[in-house]
Amino acid sequence: MRVVVLEDESAVADAVAAHFASLIRRKPDAVLGLATGGTPVGAYQRLIELHRRHGLSFRQISSFNLDEYLGLDEDHPQSYRRFMNEQLFDPIDIDKNRTRVPPGRPDDIRTACQRYEDEIVAAGGIDLQLLGIGRDGHIAFNEPGSSLASRTRCTTLAATTILDNARFFGSEDLVPRAALTMGIGTILDARQILLMATGSGKAEAIAGSIEGPVSSRVPGSALQLHPDVVVYLDAAAAHRLEYLEYYLESERTHRSLGLLPFP
Ligand code: PGA
Repeated sequence: MRVVVLEDESAVADAVAAHFASLIRRKPDAVLGLATGGTPVGAYQRLIELHRRHGLSFRQISSFNLDEYLGLDEDHPQSYRRFMNEQLFDPIDIDKNRTRVPPGRPDDIRTACQRYEDEIVAAGGIDLQLLGIGRDGHIAFNEPGSSLASRTRCTTLAATTILDNARFFGSEDLVPRAALTMGIGTILDARQILLMATGSGKAEAIAGSIEGPVSSRVPGSALQLHPDVVVYLDAAAAHRLEYLEYYLESERTHRSLGLLPFP
């Protein structure tokens, strides 16, 4: 894992956007794995800026989102489809027909999950998967206890996640209890994974994911099994890392050897 610790939330957003932009310039028809939540919003704003001011084009890009609440229509104010349209897709030149979010109201849940897996394969697999992380260590809606080999399926939200997401719905009671989510195995199939986290609330989940034992107790720890993960953190999210000094030194060494593209 490459662990990149930056000053603050804004620097993390810049770095994540630069990372995506670099892939898109290299591979204009890349397949992106996208995430929702508060964390990626700043990076999406930067990508919109890069599109508007610097001509970054998404015309040939395809995308797959990690998850969607079960029971919400696409135009529900809190649906992840709507979030993506508003926060990223509408302001850029992406072809919406090439953007996928799991259905919130599928006719048949199992068929919809299998179809999502099949569509990812048919697109050639995901080149770069963006991830946030929950306070409880979840990635997408793979809550603690999820199989590290899990595929796209219906999952139940953990109590901490319901509590954390109540801020978007106005009340805990309004948060859906279930979701369709890519599994941990699905996520690990991406060619490269980019995990981003900001704020001290994520520090424990980050320490468990990067340095803890690989365990379904902390779903993010499954990322240790992937050969190409880059983690962008602000100082607050990094402060529980035992080997923080080592990661900083490692970045310096690699930079001096000219081995890394740097934010
Ligand atoms: P957040 O959620 O970005 O809103 O903190 C992250 C997540 O639950 O994956």
